Amino acid sequence: MPIVTTKEMFRRAYEGGYAVGAFNVNNMEIVQGITEAAAETRAPVILQVSRGARAYANHTYLMKLVEAAEAETGLPIALHLDHGDSFEICKSCIDGGFTSVMIDGSSRSLEDNIAVTRQVVEYAHARGVVVEAELGTLAGVEDEVQVSAEDSSYTRPEDVEELVTRTGCDSLAIAIGTSHGAYKFKPGTTPQLRFDILDEVARRLPGFPIVLHGASSVPQEFVQMINDNGGKMPDAIGIPEEMLREAARRAVCKINIDSDLRLAMTGTIRQYLAQHPGDFDPRAYLKPARANIKALVRHKIVDVLGCDGKA
Ligand code: G3H
Ligand code: 13P
Ligand code: ZN
Repeated sequence: MPIVTTKEMFRRAYEGGYAVGAFNVNNMEIVQGITEAAAETRAPVILQVSRGARAYANHTYLMKLVEAAEAETGLPIALHLDHGDSFEICKSCIDGGFTSVMIDGSSRSLEDNIAVTRQVVEYAHARGVVVEAELGTLAGVEDEVQVSAEDSSYTRPEDVEELVTRTGCDSLAIAIGTSHGAYKFKPGTTPQLRFDILDEVARRLPGFPIVLHGASSVPQEFVQMINDNGGKMPDAIGIPEEMLREAARRAVCKINIDSDLRLAMTGTIRQYLAQHPGDFDPRAYLKPARANIKALVRHKIVDVLGCDGKA
Protein backbone atom coordinates (compact mmCIF):
# COMPACT_ATOMS: atom_id res chain seq x y z
CA MET A 1 0.00 0.00 0.00
CA PRO A 2 1.42 3.46 -0.87
CA ILE A 3 1.57 6.21 1.74
CA VAL A 4 -2.07 7.19 2.35
CA THR A 5 -4.03 10.29 3.34
CA THR A 6 -5.81 10.50 6.70
CA LYS A 7 -9.29 10.61 5.14
CA GLU A 8 -10.28 6.99 5.70
CA MET A 9 -8.33 6.75 8.98
CA PHE A 10 -10.32 9.65 10.43
CA ARG A 11 -13.69 8.46 9.15
CA ARG A 12 -13.19 5.12 10.89
CA ALA A 13 -11.69 6.69 14.03
CA TYR A 14 -14.64 9.06 14.42
CA GLU A 15 -17.15 6.24 14.02
CA GLY A 16 -15.18 3.89 16.26
CA GLY A 17 -14.56 6.36 19.09
CA TYR A 18 -10.76 6.04 18.97
CA ALA A 19 -7.90 8.23 17.77
CA VAL A 20 -4.91 7.71 15.47
CA GLY A 21 -1.48 8.63 16.86
CA ALA A 22 0.51 11.31 15.07
CA PHE A 23 4.14 10.98 16.10
CA ASN A 24 6.92 13.42 15.18
CA VAL A 25 9.89 11.92 13.33
CA ASN A 26 13.42 13.28 12.98
CA ASN A 27 15.63 10.26 12.18
CA MET A 28 15.69 6.59 11.28
CA GLU A 29 15.52 5.17 14.81
CA ILE A 30 12.41 7.20 15.63
CA VAL A 31 10.68 6.11 12.39
CA GLN A 32 11.58 2.49 13.11
CA GLY A 33 10.51 2.54 16.77
CA ILE A 34 7.09 4.01 15.92
CA THR A 35 6.33 1.87 12.89
CA GLU A 36 7.52 -1.39 14.47
CA ALA A 37 5.06 -0.77 17.32
CA ALA A 38 2.30 0.10 14.85
CA ALA A 39 3.03 -3.03 12.80
CA GLU A 40 2.91 -5.34 15.83
CA THR A 41 -0.39 -3.85 16.98
CA ARG A 42 -1.83 -3.47 13.44
CA ALA A 43 -2.48 0.23 13.98
CA PRO A 44 -2.81 2.95 11.35
CA VAL A 45 -0.24 5.65 12.02
CA ILE A 46 0.60 9.24 11.08
CA LEU A 47 4.27 10.21 10.88
CA GLN A 48 4.66 13.96 11.06
CA VAL A 49 7.52 16.25 10.20
CA SER A 50 7.95 19.73 11.65
CA ARG A 51 9.73 22.55 9.83
CA GLY A 52 12.61 21.98 12.26
CA ALA A 53 12.72 18.25 11.49
CA ARG A 54 12.75 18.96 7.77
CA ALA A 55 15.59 21.44 8.19
CA TYR A 56 17.49 18.94 10.38
CA ALA A 57 17.08 15.72 8.42
CA ASN A 58 16.27 16.93 4.89
CA HIS A 59 12.96 16.36 3.07
CA THR A 60 14.21 13.55 0.84
CA TYR A 61 15.78 11.55 3.67
CA LEU A 62 12.57 11.72 5.70
CA MET A 63 10.43 10.84 2.68
CA LYS A 64 12.59 7.79 1.91
CA LEU A 65 12.60 6.66 5.55
CA VAL A 66 8.81 6.75 5.62
CA GLU A 67 8.59 4.94 2.28
CA ALA A 68 10.92 2.29 3.72
CA ALA A 69 8.72 1.93 6.81
CA GLU A 70 5.66 1.52 4.61
CA ALA A 71 7.41 -1.12 2.49
CA GLU A 72 8.56 -3.02 5.59
CA THR A 73 5.21 -2.98 7.42
CA GLY A 74 2.50 -2.73 4.74
CA LEU A 75 0.62 -0.47 7.15
CA PRO A 76 -1.57 2.50 6.27
CA ILE A 77 0.93 5.31 7.01
CA ALA A 78 0.22 9.01 6.38
CA LEU A 79 3.09 11.49 6.03
CA HIS A 80 2.09 14.86 7.41
CA LEU A 81 3.65 18.33 7.65
CA ASP A 82 3.32 19.55 11.24
CA HIS A 83 2.75 23.30 11.82
CA GLY A 84 3.36 24.56 8.30
CA ASP A 85 3.38 28.35 8.65
CA SER A 86 3.06 29.42 5.01
CA PHE A 87 1.58 28.42 1.68
CA GLU A 88 5.11 27.93 0.34
CA ILE A 89 6.18 25.23 2.80
CA CYS A 90 2.85 23.40 2.37
CA LYS A 91 3.28 23.51 -1.41
CA SER A 92 6.83 22.22 -1.13
CA CYS A 93 5.71 19.25 1.01
CA ILE A 94 2.76 18.49 -1.28
CA ASP A 95 5.03 18.62 -4.35
CA GLY A 96 7.52 16.42 -2.49
CA GLY A 97 5.08 13.56 -1.77
CA PHE A 98 3.50 14.28 1.63
CA THR A 99 -0.11 13.07 1.84
CA SER A 100 -1.25 15.58 4.46
CA VAL A 101 -0.23 19.09 5.50
CA MET A 102 -1.08 21.37 8.39
CA ILE A 103 -1.38 25.06 7.68
CA ASP A 104 -1.13 26.67 11.09
CA GLY A 105 -2.75 30.07 10.77
CA SER A 106 -3.66 30.14 14.46
CA SER A 107 -1.53 33.18 15.23
CA ARG A 108 -3.18 35.21 12.42
CA SER A 109 -6.51 37.05 12.44
CA LEU A 110 -9.51 34.85 11.58
CA GLU A 111 -9.71 36.41 8.10
CA ASP A 112 -6.00 35.85 7.39
CA ASN A 113 -6.18 32.32 8.77
CA ILE A 114 -9.13 31.59 6.46
CA ALA A 115 -7.37 33.13 3.45
CA VAL A 116 -4.11 31.18 3.79
CA THR A 117 -5.91 27.94 4.73
CA ARG A 118 -8.15 28.21 1.68
CA GLN A 119 -5.14 28.80 -0.58
CA VAL A 120 -3.45 25.64 0.80
CA VAL A 121 -6.68 23.59 0.53
CA GLU A 122 -7.16 24.53 -3.13
CA TYR A 123 -3.60 23.47 -3.98
CA ALA A 124 -3.69 20.33 -1.83
CA HIS A 125 -7.08 18.99 -2.88
CA ALA A 126 -6.23 19.37 -6.57
CA ARG A 127 -3.38 16.92 -5.85
CA GLY A 128 -5.20 14.47 -3.57
CA VAL A 129 -3.62 15.79 -0.35
CA VAL A 130 -5.57 16.59 2.83
CA VAL A 131 -5.25 19.69 5.03
CA GLU A 132 -5.36 20.26 8.80
CA ALA A 133 -6.17 23.80 9.97
CA GLU A 134 -5.89 25.32 13.46
CA LEU A 135 -8.02 27.73 15.49
CA GLY A 136 -6.98 28.86 18.96
CA THR A 137 -3.42 29.20 20.26
CA LEU A 138 -1.56 26.61 22.33
CA ALA A 139 1.07 27.63 24.85
CA GLY A 140 4.59 26.20 24.69
CA VAL A 141 7.40 25.85 22.18
CA GLU A 142 6.96 24.71 18.61
CA ASP A 143 9.85 25.14 16.18
CA GLU A 144 11.48 28.43 17.15
CA VAL A 145 8.20 30.02 18.30
CA GLN A 146 7.53 30.25 22.04
CA VAL A 147 3.98 31.11 23.15
CA SER A 148 3.55 32.07 26.81
CA ALA A 149 0.58 30.77 28.82
CA GLU A 150 -0.80 34.34 28.93
CA ASP A 151 -0.73 34.63 25.12
CA SER A 152 -2.41 31.28 24.57
CA SER A 153 -6.15 31.24 23.93
CA TYR A 154 -8.85 28.62 23.82
CA THR A 155 -10.63 28.02 20.53
CA ARG A 156 -13.84 30.06 20.16
CA PRO A 157 -16.48 27.50 19.06
CA GLU A 158 -18.45 30.27 17.32
CA ASP A 159 -15.59 30.61 14.75
CA VAL A 160 -15.19 26.98 13.73
CA GLU A 161 -18.04 26.62 11.22
CA GLU A 162 -16.92 29.72 9.35
CA LEU A 163 -13.33 28.50 9.10
CA VAL A 164 -14.27 24.99 8.04
CA THR A 165 -16.98 25.93 5.52
CA ARG A 166 -15.02 28.79 3.95
CA THR A 167 -11.77 26.81 3.61
CA GLY A 168 -12.89 23.22 2.96
CA CYS A 169 -10.16 21.93 5.31
CA ASP A 170 -10.28 18.24 6.26
CA SER A 171 -9.55 18.40 10.00
CA LEU A 172 -9.21 21.07 12.67
CA ALA A 173 -6.77 21.45 15.55
CA ILE A 174 -8.29 23.21 18.55
CA ALA A 175 -6.95 24.63 21.81
CA ILE A 176 -8.63 23.21 24.92
CA GLY A 177 -5.79 23.53 27.42
CA THR A 178 -3.04 21.28 26.07
CA SER A 179 0.32 22.84 25.22
CA HIS A 180 3.58 21.91 23.52
CA GLY A 181 6.62 20.64 25.40
CA ALA A 182 7.14 18.92 28.77
CA TYR A 183 5.91 21.71 31.09
CA LYS A 184 2.18 21.82 30.50
CA PHE A 185 0.80 22.59 33.96
CA LYS A 186 2.23 24.39 36.95
CA PRO A 187 3.47 22.01 39.70
CA GLY A 188 0.81 21.73 42.40
CA THR A 189 -2.09 22.50 40.05
CA THR A 190 -4.59 19.95 38.75
CA PRO A 191 -4.41 19.40 34.97
CA GLN A 192 -7.66 20.38 33.30
CA LEU A 193 -8.92 20.33 29.73
CA ARG A 194 -11.96 22.20 28.39
CA PHE A 195 -14.04 19.24 27.19
CA ASP A 196 -16.99 21.64 27.07
CA ILE A 197 -15.27 23.48 24.20
CA LEU A 198 -14.49 20.20 22.44
CA ASP A 199 -18.14 19.12 22.71
CA GLU A 200 -19.44 22.47 21.48
CA VAL A 201 -17.09 22.32 18.50
CA ALA A 202 -18.26 18.76 17.78
CA ARG A 203 -21.90 19.86 18.03
CA ARG A 204 -21.27 22.58 15.46
CA LEU A 205 -19.23 20.29 13.16
CA PRO A 206 -20.97 16.90 13.28
CA GLY A 207 -18.71 14.05 12.18
CA PHE A 208 -15.76 16.38 11.54
CA PRO A 209 -12.31 15.16 12.73
CA ILE A 210 -10.75 17.21 15.52
CA VAL A 211 -7.00 17.21 16.27
CA LEU A 212 -5.32 17.51 19.65
CA HIS A 213 -1.80 18.97 19.70
CA GLY A 214 0.44 19.09 22.75
CA ALA A 215 -0.79 15.70 23.95
CA SER A 216 2.31 14.22 25.53
CA SER A 217 1.74 12.84 29.00
CA VAL A 218 5.40 13.22 30.08
CA PRO A 219 6.10 9.78 31.67
CA GLN A 220 7.87 10.42 34.95
CA GLU A 221 10.04 7.30 34.51
CA PHE A 222 11.86 9.01 31.61
CA VAL A 223 12.14 12.38 33.40
CA GLN A 224 13.65 10.42 36.29
CA MET A 225 16.01 8.58 33.95
CA ILE A 226 17.24 11.93 32.63
CA ASN A 227 17.63 13.47 36.07
CA ASP A 228 19.25 10.38 37.59
CA ASN A 229 21.92 10.50 34.90
CA GLY A 230 23.15 14.06 34.91
CA GLY A 231 20.06 15.86 33.55
CA LYS A 232 18.39 18.82 35.21
CA MET A 233 14.74 18.88 34.17
CA PRO A 234 12.49 20.85 36.51
CA ASP A 235 9.10 19.39 37.51
CA ALA A 236 7.46 18.40 34.22
CA ILE A 237 3.73 17.67 34.03
CA GLY A 238 1.90 16.31 30.98
CA ILE A 239 -1.68 15.50 29.99
CA PRO A 240 -3.11 12.64 32.08
CA GLU A 241 -3.68 9.67 29.81
CA GLU A 242 -7.27 9.27 30.99
CA MET A 243 -7.99 12.70 29.49
CA LEU A 244 -6.53 11.59 26.17
CA ARG A 245 -8.74 8.48 26.26
CA GLU A 246 -11.71 10.73 26.90
CA ALA A 247 -10.79 13.01 23.98
CA ALA A 248 -10.42 9.98 21.70
CA ARG A 249 -13.88 8.72 22.67
CA ARG A 250 -15.28 12.13 21.65
CA ALA A 251 -14.54 13.94 18.35
CA VAL A 252 -10.72 13.85 18.52
CA CYS A 253 -9.38 11.60 15.74
CA LYS A 254 -5.67 12.61 15.75
CA ILE A 255 -3.51 12.94 18.85
CA ASN A 256 -0.06 14.53 18.47
CA ILE A 257 2.87 13.19 20.48
CA ASP A 258 6.45 14.40 20.24
CA SER A 259 7.85 15.31 23.66
CA ASP A 260 7.21 11.81 25.08
CA LEU A 261 9.39 10.31 22.32
CA ARG A 262 12.13 12.83 23.04
CA LEU A 263 12.03 11.97 26.74
CA ALA A 264 12.17 8.23 26.01
CA MET A 265 15.09 8.63 23.63
CA THR A 266 17.13 11.04 25.73
CA GLY A 267 16.43 9.25 29.03
CA THR A 268 17.51 5.92 27.56
CA ILE A 269 20.68 7.32 25.99
CA ARG A 270 21.69 9.16 29.17
CA GLN A 271 21.17 6.03 31.22
CA TYR A 272 23.03 3.80 28.77
CA LEU A 273 26.04 6.10 28.58
CA ALA A 274 26.16 6.50 32.35
CA GLN A 275 26.13 2.71 32.75
CA HIS A 276 28.63 2.08 29.92
CA PRO A 277 31.10 4.96 30.12
CA GLY A 278 33.61 3.22 27.86
CA ASP A 279 31.22 2.66 24.91
CA PHE A 280 31.41 4.89 21.87
CA ASP A 281 29.50 2.93 19.21
CA PRO A 282 26.30 4.91 18.43
CA ARG A 283 24.46 1.66 17.73
CA ALA A 284 24.98 0.58 21.31
CA TYR A 285 22.92 3.44 22.73
CA LEU A 286 20.55 4.02 19.80
CA LYS A 287 19.34 0.42 19.96
CA PRO A 288 17.85 0.64 23.49
CA ALA A 289 16.58 4.15 22.69
CA ARG A 290 14.70 2.77 19.68
CA ALA A 291 13.37 -0.12 21.78
CA ASN A 292 12.00 2.27 24.41
CA ILE A 293 10.37 4.45 21.74
CA LYS A 294 8.73 1.30 20.40
CA ALA A 295 7.49 0.27 23.87
CA LEU A 296 6.14 3.77 24.51
CA VAL A 297 4.29 3.92 21.17
CA ARG A 298 2.87 0.46 21.72
CA HIS A 299 1.52 1.60 25.09
CA LYS A 300 -0.03 4.73 23.52
CA ILE A 301 -1.67 2.72 20.74
CA VAL A 302 -3.09 -0.04 22.94
CA ASP A 303 -3.80 1.70 26.27
CA VAL A 304 -4.55 5.29 25.25
CA LEU A 305 -5.53 5.80 21.60
CA GLY A 306 -7.42 2.53 21.10
CA CYS A 307 -6.35 2.21 17.44
CA ASP A 308 -4.77 -1.25 17.74
CA GLY A 309 -6.19 -3.71 15.24
CA LYS A 310 -7.67 -0.91 13.11
CA ALA A 311 -5.14 -0.99 10.23
O1 G3H B 1 4.66 21.05 17.79
C1 G3H B 1 5.89 20.96 17.76
C2 G3H B 1 6.59 19.66 17.68
O2 G3H B 1 6.88 19.16 18.95
C3 G3H B 1 7.80 19.79 16.81
O3 G3H B 1 8.87 20.35 17.49
O4 G3H B 1 9.60 22.04 15.83
O5 G3H B 1 11.14 21.32 17.68
O6 G3H B 1 10.60 19.79 15.76
P1 G3H B 1 10.13 20.91 16.65
P1 13P C 1 3.90 17.48 22.64
O1 13P C 1 4.97 18.51 22.85
O2 13P C 1 2.93 17.47 23.78
O3 13P C 1 4.45 16.13 22.35
O4 13P C 1 3.05 17.93 21.35
C1 13P C 1 3.49 17.60 20.05
C2 13P C 1 2.71 18.31 18.99
O5 13P C 1 1.64 18.87 19.19
C3 13P C 1 3.29 18.30 17.64
O6 13P C 1 2.57 19.09 16.75
ZN1 ZN D 1 1.65 20.83 17.62
